[in-house]
Amino acid sequence: MINITHRPRRNRATQAIRDLVQEHFVMLNDLMYPLFLVDGEGKKEAIASMPGQYRWSVDTLLVEIESCVTLGIKAFVLFPNIAETLKDAHATESWNASGLYLRAIRAVKQRFPHIILMTDVAMDPYSSDGHDGVVFNNEIINDLTLPILARMAVAQAEAGADIIGPSDMMDGRVGYLREALDEASYSNVRIMSYTAKYASAFYGPFRDALDSAPKFGDKKTYQMNPANSREALIEAELDVMEGADYLMVKPALPYLDIIQALRNNNNLPIAAYNVSGEYAMIKAAAEKGWLDGTKSMIESLTSIKRAGADIILTYFAKEYAQYLHDNKL
Ligand code: PBG
Repeated sequence: MINITHRPRRNRATQAIRDLVQEHFVMLNDLMYPLFLVDGEGKKEAIASMPGQYRWSVDTLLVEIESCVTLGIKAFVLFPNIAETLKDAHATESWNASGLYLRAIRAVKQRFPHIILMTDVAMDPYSSDGHDGVVFNNEIINDLTLPILARMAVAQAEAGADIIGPSDMMDGRVGYLREALDEASYSNVRIMSYTAKYASAFYGPFRDALDSAPKFGDKKTYQMNPANSREALIEAELDVMEGADYLMVKPALPYLDIIQALRNNNNLPIAAYNVSGEYAMIKAAAEKGWLDGTKSMIESLTSIKRAGADIILTYFAKEYAQYLHDNKL
């Protein structure tokens, strides 16, 4: 036998010893489940590029949330698919109290008062331009967008949102929204800022789900350049100063270094959005038999937690909950 002082393999020898020394484990408490909404009744529309994900009408959404709650999921995020005819340049449908989104928020919180419901604050689902800001002469105008976001956020808080998620990357929106919420006496409503949201190709399937792709150009004048990391620290510093309760990195897997950087430079809870394209890649490869879908899911989620995320928004939430349940974990 060769004399080797340290044999790290000793701690990998059996499942029991591996479990004993495991550093990170994704718990259900860490997950938020994004769900898509569509108008109508009795609907469960499959989203082609996101196998296993659907657009729900309000009635079927309640049934779906019920089954998730039974599995132990406690936090949800809602995104609406808005009919093209209701979209306009100023996203006015976003504060229509009898519109799909605000109705859904009220229904969910009435039926499940104890869950955490995060709502999306951005113009794109309601914008006839498919952009996250007001368009003028083919430019996205930051300061004209803020009052629209504020109106949307206050309407969502009024409908029962627990966390407001500004996902648009306009400058100054966290402070502006904080002030608007406080003035409307919603100082208990939290803000999860999409702090470092990159101009990513991995949002494709989400835009299919919402029919929200930009009608011209791209989102590079507001979403971040994937080549930059220091810029994420600038965004984080601003969000902390402006009063964010959580900082989010999006997407997750191609940006694990950014998650780690934000974790190391801040003390607020860090969230990561494991986005539609990250989900679609695994689903597509698993359908072809090229990857083991369950193992790839676990490895992906664990790596996001290992990088430093406290909270993971993921389309895998229900499947992961089912996995934990089936394996008595
Ligand atoms: C837009 C928004 C996007 C996502 C969440 N909010 C896409 C975009 O910026 O075009 C993407 C989420 C995903 O891909 O899962 N405000």
